[in-house]
Amino acid sequence: MSTRRALPGALGAVLIAATTVLMVGPAEMASAAGVPLGELAAGKGITFGTAVSAAAQDQDTGYAARLATEFGSVTPEDAMKWAAVHPAKERFDWRAADAVVNTALGNEQEIRGHTLVWHSSLPGWLTGGTFTTDELKAILREHIQTMVTRYRGQVSVWDVVNEPLNNDGTLRPGFWLNRLGPDYIVDAFRWAHEADPDATLYLNEYGAEANGAKADALYELVKSLIAKGVPLGGVGFQAHLTGSSRPDALAAVLRRFADLGVDVAVTELDVRITTPPTTTAETSQAQVYGRVVAACLTVPRCRSITVWGFTDRHSWVPATYPGWGAATLLDEGLGAKPAYTAVADTLLASGPAAGAPAGWWRLDDPAGATVAADISGHGRDARIRGAGTGSPGRVPHMTAFTGDGATTEATTTTPVLDTAGSFTVSAWVSMTSTAIPGVVAAQDGSVRSAFYLMYQTGTNRWELTVPSADGATVTWSTARSTTVPVLNRWTHLTGVYDASARRLQLYVDGVREGTRDGVTAWASDGPFHIGRSLSGGRFPGAMSDVRAWNRALSASEVSTAGDRTVASWEFDGTSTDSSPFGRGTSLTTTGAGYTADRGGTANRALGLSGTGCAEGHGPVLATDRSYTVAAWARLADKGGSRTVLSQSGTGKDAFYLQYHQSYDRWAVLVPSGDEDTATWQTLLSTTSPALNTWTHLAAVHDAQAGTLALYVDGVRQGGPLTVATWPSTGRIHIGCSGTGGRFNGALDEIRAYASALTAGDVAALAAGTPVR
Ligand code: XIL
Repeated sequence: MSTRRALPGALGAVLIAATTVLMVGPAEMASAAGVPLGELAAGKGITFGTAVSAAAQDQDTGYAARLATEFGSVTPEDAMKWAAVHPAKERFDWRAADAVVNTALGNEQEIRGHTLVWHSSLPGWLTGGTFTTDELKAILREHIQTMVTRYRGQVSVWDVVNEPLNNDGTLRPGFWLNRLGPDYIVDAFRWAHEADPDATLYLNEYGAEANGAKADALYELVKSLIAKGVPLGGVGFQAHLTGSSRPDALAAVLRRFADLGVDVAVTELDVRITTPPTTTAETSQAQVYGRVVAACLTVPRCRSITVWGFTDRHSWVPATYPGWGAATLLDEGLGAKPAYTAVADTLLASGPAAGAPAGWWRLDDPAGATVAADISGHGRDARIRGAGTGSPGRVPHMTAFTGDGATTEATTTTPVLDTAGSFTVSAWVSMTSTAIPGVVAAQDGSVRSAFYLMYQTGTNRWELTVPSADGATVTWSTARSTTVPVLNRWTHLTGVYDASARRLQLYVDGVREGTRDGVTAWASDGPFHIGRSLSGGRFPGAMSDVRAWNRALSASEVSTAGDRTVASWEFDGTSTDSSPFGRGTSLTTTGAGYTADRGGTANRALGLSGTGCAEGHGPVLATDRSYTVAAWARLADKGGSRTVLSQSGTGKDAFYLQYHQSYDRWAVLVPSGDEDTATWQTLLSTTSPALNTWTHLAAVHDAQAGTLALYVDGVRQGGPLTVATWPSTGRIHIGCSGTGGRFNGALDEIRAYASALTAGDVAALAAGTPVR
């Protein structure tokens, strides 16, 4: 099995790369043959490394040869751990650590030092010793500073603190926490920094690759360390995954941490499958590897990917996870597995597929950022001028680029669109003033911009406007919105120019509102602006998720680009969030599982029995802004109030969608505030819920109107009620609330939107039509 694709050394590498190249296209063929992963990664601005076993490097020449050529960096797998390097209180044993370092330096590889403070791999003299707290602190400090000083200038990155958290997000009890208390983390970073101020110091953790309790806690920990001025430079995500892992949310998680102003990295990637491996399992494994690499590539501050071993010949997996193995890129004969090809392909892909955006700026860069990264893969980053960043974004955890209407803009150095051909530009905007014409996007010619996606004061409408020429005297062609722009409301705008139909179209929130025929746009070779045009015209307000395509998008593609969904749980046997924001939920183990859905198909709805619950981790909605929550619910009893969905504050939840026992009605309750004295604002269904019947429920908060509406099976129940709302920052709960009232029965297709859906949208949802 293991030798199925085994090919000897260099020949293997050439053939592997050639296979890769055929899938990518002739352009890369010449350059890619035999190119190691480390070099492919360097071409993308990241480092690709591996953990190295000191023993294997010493004894296995095939291993050592591949190690030397394939990777841009190494992490000593065990050689720098306490048990290996510090066998007695007064004695360090540098043999293995020095061997790894010297070999790496000889191979011109970077070195990630691993690891200074960990609950595991500690020597007996330490864990069994009788030391006072002060003595232990001194021992830790001396260990850290001896290590960091010895390899100063050689080890550029240190995993200072490893695995500080439990899976539930609490601090992991272990030798250092138990003996020194939580300050050991802060101290370790400070001591390491004293010894080498130039090294980048990482906090490293596993199981935080998807949003969850652990990722949230890690985020809070990182935030608090930064707030204390701790010299933390990066956060490592180990990524010990399995073939059925779905690392779909990894990019979002990496970005969330990078937004705090630290580097991020994948530090210990392996993808175990059950042994003996099947072809199917190896294919899934390859996908997981590819997705992890892709995730890192889309996040500008993702600096490196390290695999935890590169060949099945030397991997920690089989010994650690009985029944599992085959977790690495190369088989036992050093032959490339599909996983290797997937990694190479992903690193090689020169850019996005045809039809994908030509530029894509999320514009959620942290406050003070001077560059808005282009995540389209074309590298068309936009330089930010003016204050402009860090205001609240479309969902909790995200920030948005914010124009002051006077100086702020984000501008590329090269053109993005061929404006003589078909093109599309879309953006989320939240405008703060109608006093000035506000340009959201434009691309310059020499005296004018070739198009303007903007708010126009004279007409008080959104417009896509194209001047007839790049000259002083022009006529204007405009596709205009029918609706009047609403201030301070996130609105999705899309302008489409179809060159063959000679047509301009303007969409607002996915609805085509304006069309103008007989338009001929002209070629422009100036920069692409976000938040201004050539002649000025700055946009006042927030802009987010600006995308540009060199083609005319169809109406359905426009609505996909303007997806308002911020969370979507299908519960088809998993609790992952299928929205682009990828928030998982963790099911409590008792009283929650999967059951039949509306169509009677088994394991496709969340089954609850009044004790279990699916809890999110952190907020999904900004509850003081417009939002919609919707769910299918089958109520099995009326023995108590039964919560379908809620999002917690600190005292109360910001909303409760539930069966309310005392009224015997479906209800949405919105307390006026988070405090005990808050008043209850309650909307009830008009009739008593039927038991054991799938029912569609939706609650819509319209922040502009200040109202709340409840829908049952697509029909509005009284209301809307005028309500006061407040921002809640706690968890989303499915089948329970922060304060109790668990659901008994089944829940399905739970969706949250960061906007107030119309009655028509809710009716469509209740009729089973997806609404984005
Ligand atoms: C593992 C090594 O691979 C094994 O050889 C050793 O026996 C135990 O440790 N998280 C980490 C790594 O940070 O240091 C661990 O390495 C794997 C889990």
